[in-house]
Amino acid sequence: MTKRTTGVCYYPEHWPETQWPEDAARMVNAGLSWVRIGEFAWSRIEPREGQFDFGWLDRALDVLGAAGLRVILGTPTATPPLWVVQKHPDMLAVDATGQPRKFGSRRHYCFSHQGYRDECYRIVTLLAERYGVHPHIHAWQIDNEYGCHDTTLSYSSAARDGFRDWCAQRYQSVDALNRAWGNVFWSMEYDSIDDIDLPNLTVTEPNPAHVMAFRRFSSDQVVGFNKLQADVLRRHTSAPLIHNYMGRILDFDHFDVGADLDIASWDSYPIGFLSDRLEASNDHKSRFLRQGDPDMQAFHHDLYRAVGKGRWWVMEQQPGPVNWAPYNPAPLPGMARLWAHEAFAHGAETVCYFRWRQAPFAQEQQHAGLLRPDSADAPALGEAAQVAQELAAFPDAGTATADVALLFDYPSAWAWEAQPQGADFDYFRLTFATYKALRRAGLSVDIINANSDITAYKLILAPGIATLPDTLLNQLPNFQGTALIGPRTNSKTPELSIPVPLPPNLPGLNASVALVESLPPGTVVPLANGGAFAHWFEHLETDCASELTSDGKPAIASRSKLHYLAGWPDDTAFDRLITGACAAEAIKTLFLPDGLRLRDTATHRFWFNYGPDPIMFQGITHPAAGVTWQAR
Ligand code: GAL
Repeated sequence: MTKRTTGVCYYPEHWPETQWPEDAARMVNAGLSWVRIGEFAWSRIEPREGQFDFGWLDRALDVLGAAGLRVILGTPTATPPLWVVQKHPDMLAVDATGQPRKFGSRRHYCFSHQGYRDECYRIVTLLAERYGVHPHIHAWQIDNEYGCHDTTLSYSSAARDGFRDWCAQRYQSVDALNRAWGNVFWSMEYDSIDDIDLPNLTVTEPNPAHVMAFRRFSSDQVVGFNKLQADVLRRHTSAPLIHNYMGRILDFDHFDVGADLDIASWDSYPIGFLSDRLEASNDHKSRFLRQGDPDMQAFHHDLYRAVGKGRWWVMEQQPGPVNWAPYNPAPLPGMARLWAHEAFAHGAETVCYFRWRQAPFAQEQQHAGLLRPDSADAPALGEAAQVAQELAAFPDAGTATADVALLFDYPSAWAWEAQPQGADFDYFRLTFATYKALRRAGLSVDIINANSDITAYKLILAPGIATLPDTLLNQLPNFQGTALIGPRTNSKTPELSIPVPLPPNLPGLNASVALVESLPPGTVVPLANGGAFAHWFEHLETDCASELTSDGKPAIASRSKLHYLAGWPDDTAFDRLITGACAAEAIKTLFLPDGLRLRDTATHRFWFNYGPDPIMFQGITHPAAGVTWQAR
């Protein structure tokens, strides 16, 4: 059984050494067992090229370890110091307007720059040689938040050269590339792969196939950059390797990065995300202002459980107001506890809070920690200590395979960004709307890679997957459960063209999409049985049994338990469809009140009330901003 633990992110280089022992003792007092350090400390480890100071880091490890803490050591490659940039001025990533990004914050590097990769190889090798078998280091974090601050794509000359090599590998010849992209259109044909540029600064939109290839390449560059470090570390340590991913960042394929790591982790800032990156009504945003969206954290927990092949953590948990969202309210009392327990209920091994003490200087001085800048307890410290005590008293609840799986596919996000066809068509938005509908129905959900084995599930949903992998298409004829597929699923080839026979081309389902429409806000296509399609509607030709729109067009084509949705259901339609699909599979649904959510583990049912008031449901009162659990 995995022991569930908590931890904290700490920056010894920010504080006098005399402070460290007391900090470590207070961490242990709060029940924390892990401390993450080092991920931004390059300028203190190697202040000038070849001039090293490992002394402070050795002493920090001694102090933290002596207190009984387990250390996660970060590789410092997200923050190359100024001398590295001066040595490799062209290592800076270049934005889509052709401007290099500057030194003075973080993540100022291009994944494709060989000189920078060599510097990373060098510093990570030194750290791995020195600390690979260190008794207090029990895990490594590679880099920090790939893709953060819009850093996956770079239009640098290093990226351009790398892209040409990548195209030569993928297409083998320029003729094959021209054919794959359809470059005969607008006389875009190339004579040589070495003439191909990156798809920015074109007069009007570049060829979407060109953009899609660049997106695949850019994702592969992140994978390669991460693997370089993972390979070095593996030679010197047997401790698990981790990366800390983010919320709603889909610019690289996390499943591909995760294949080279042992544990997936993510950085959870529920209140920041509500304000910063969610489409929701003002009413919703004000109701959950100090709690965060009730499904956003759970969605990412379920996603990263899949990315981590079952092993995942929260590496950074919001403790109080952050500094970076448009508005930064404080969490309601109880939320820091609720968020942590929710992560554990979804299978997290460890939850670390970000950060130990609020820094009174630099960019994040307005970002709360577990301690205030004057070292007094901040409100979340007590909640963190409570969580640790509750975990100690609580047996491991385990994880159970859910009845329902939602298929997820990163390249689909790139496809619909390359060719949205409607301003509101966003892959995350569609997938998240589907997930929310499942959670409203009281379901526990597994999110799985679109090429996974689906045999264990009773119900699968596959919205917006641009190209269904053969592994999935081959499973569909024998799948015993219900499949809800669409909209827009299987509507593109891997090169972002329309396939013929026309989509969705699902085995055994005689239906094809003859035309698609995107719909502006406020316009819908009502459905005869209730609810409507919004944002997106496809005109289907089919002789299958179909649910109809209110004006008699096919809306959902079905053959036995395989259903193709020709539009983006609104909440009412989603609720009806999910209830129907669950009834067909004898899966029990509940209609949960707004803000109340549940998660089933192997042994327990956990309830989370994200609402600002107590909620009475099925005879039980769920406290505001509270979590309760009961044996199943
Ligand atoms: C994360 C990042 C941390 C810190 C935090 C602030 O994105 O990994 O270093 O910046 O946000 O909320």
